Amino acid sequence: MSGVRSVYVKTYGCQMNVYDSDRMADALAPEGYRSVDSPDGADLVILNTCHIREKAAEKVYSELGRLRVLKERAAREGRTMTIGVAGCVAQAEGAEIIARAPTVDLVVGPQTYHRLPELVARARRGEKAVDAEFPAEDKFAHLPAAERRQTIARGVTAFLTVQEGCDKFCSFCVVPYTRGSETSRPVSAIVAEAERLAEAGVREVTLLGQNVNAYHGAGADGRDWGLGDLLFRLAAIPGLDRLRYTTSHPRDMDDALIAAHRDLPQLMPYLHLPVQAGSDRVLAAMNRRHTAAEYLALVERIRRARPDIALSGDFIVGFPGETEDDFKATLALVDAVGYASAFSFKYSPRPGTPAAELSAQVPEAEKADRLARLQALIADQYTAFNAATVGLTVPVLFEKPGRRPGQLVGRSPWLQAVHVDATETSARIGAIAPVTITATSTNSLAGRLAVGADRQTEDAA
Ligand code: 5AD
Ligand code: SF4
Repeated sequence: MSGVRSVYVKTYGCQMNVYDSDRMADALAPEGYRSVDSPDGADLVILNTCHIREKAAEKVYSELGRLRVLKERAAREGRTMTIGVAGCVAQAEGAEIIARAPTVDLVVGPQTYHRLPELVARARRGEKAVDAEFPAEDKFAHLPAAERRQTIARGVTAFLTVQEGCDKFCSFCVVPYTRGSETSRPVSAIVAEAERLAEAGVREVTLLGQNVNAYHGAGADGRDWGLGDLLFRLAAIPGLDRLRYTTSHPRDMDDALIAAHRDLPQLMPYLHLPVQAGSDRVLAAMNRRHTAAEYLALVERIRRARPDIALSGDFIVGFPGETEDDFKATLALVDAVGYASAFSFKYSPRPGTPAAELSAQVPEAEKADRLARLQALIADQYTAFNAATVGLTVPVLFEKPGRRPGQLVGRSPWLQAVHVDATETSARIGAIAPVTITATSTNSLAGRLAVGADRQTEDAA
């Protein structure tokens, strides 16, 4: 260790990357690296990248262009700025990144973050350090244990990665190539991490995995546990009042998991369950291995178990060969489900995936038109969902102060941001209190503390 240095980690893409960025900061902390909020003046800058669509990958190269200027300025001032690329672009492109952007000093894939200190040391000696392997060892076992982490409790909510990788091979998707095959962490490691989070004041944990509901780990009883079993176990940890998980594949929604939605009050009534398209022809070409009718039947089963569950999804428009009728089937499916929110994207051919080789690519203008129509429908559903909560009194977990003094921001069970005016705001952070929703705006709800909220806050504190 040689004095205090600063590291700036910029995160792109999904929540897995948010979690990984914290773990990278943890791995570097024993080397004397302190996290900072800006690349300006930082000794080390790491871009934790996303490769899911072309646009996401391209953003990295524009950011590297900006960083080159900062690095050159640092050199003129006699300082060294080391630049690293981590995440899925690192995994997919490896050393090619350095060929395209020579300002980059080190490249590290998502499976080798525990080797980061060594890679950084090599890079600081002037070597170009590249490590984007799929090693046999388990990176979680090599990352700092929970009790030594700096970042353990940044707030009252936290992510916890329980599963990585994907074996589904949807024909459009790079994840099976960048994150590798499905692996689950053992139940004991997850429980230990969740207990530390709860002790550090975390009230809500979101379990993460590219295919989180394919989770299967060795349970305490020697049996293979699925995500449902894991959720039941985590719900027994004192102080963990709220559990969520993301992202799920429809084929892995098993009975135990649906039972968890029915029986666990801690499991929040919100489910991100991507379907991608509504046409069976397109679903087959996507290798989704489910039909639209199967997805709708599944949604019905989940809603029978947990009637107030809010659904969200992901959609791709303009998959190769998608006709106007196919697209209309997507609109019909969205209509039939009624989503609380959803993400939608234009199909983006990804090198190395089967769909990128298909000849019937949809023209860009057609994709843009379909995306606009789908997003208009999704926006209507989002607005309707939020409007339907006005007048309800719902438990809100307060996460942070609002922009104005005397304002608090929290989340409803359905993941909606809720703004509330309150006294003693800092004392209420981490408390769950009933809030009556009074109004909606574009991205959030407004509410007021319901009668009795004060007493409950005290009880909870
Ligand atoms: N083009 C467009 N969207 C994609 N997604 C994944 N791969 C692609 C692609 N090649 C979307 C899917 C997935 C989400 C994370 O990103 O909808 O669920
Ligand atoms: Fe990609 Fe399909 Fe796996 Fe999701 S389930 S990560 S879309 S291959």
